[in-house]
Amino acid sequence: MGGVGKTTLLTQINNKFVKKEDVFDIVIWVVVSKDLQIQKIQEEIAKKLGLAGDGWNQKDEDQKSRDIHNVLRRKKFVLLLDDIWAKVNLTKIGVPYPNRENGSKVVFTTRS
Ligand SMILES: Nc1ncnc2c1ncn2[C@@H]1O[C@H](COP(=O)(O)OP(=O)(O)OP(=O)(O)O)[C@@H](O)[C@H]1O
Ligand SMILES: [Mg+2]
Repeated sequence: MGGVGKTTLLTQINNKFVKKEDVFDIVIWVVVSKDLQIQKIQEEIAKKLGLAGDGWNQKDEDQKSRDIHNVLRRKKFVLLLDDIWAKVNLTKIGVPYPNRENGSKVVFTTRS
């Protein structure tokens, strides 16, 4: 449902792990919303990872995906996706699948 406090809760999670630096190497926040665009999500993640410098805009989606994957596979990350309306393909974006070994997490909110 709208307005029940999803974004507020996600913000709390974000703030907790930004403060508690020993749990995750990196905390990434992306607002997804209705007009889901892989490019936009990649851009937000790349900015956070320091990848969005020279040449980033010239790369195609697959190259961006490989670049993001190359960094994130070495990190224990938490990715917070706020307000999802449609299926988000993590592989296309370049986000490694979270599992027990890498200890990474993906958290999302949705009205669906
Ligand atoms: N636990 C709470 N107690 C009181 N007010 C709250 C609580 N959680 C959230 N709110 C307030 O409720 C309003 C809506 O919260 P929020 O934006 O987090 O909802 P949402 O579920 O993300 O909504 P949407 O689906 O529209 O994105 C905000 O003004 C927020 O400050
Ligand atoms: Mg919200």
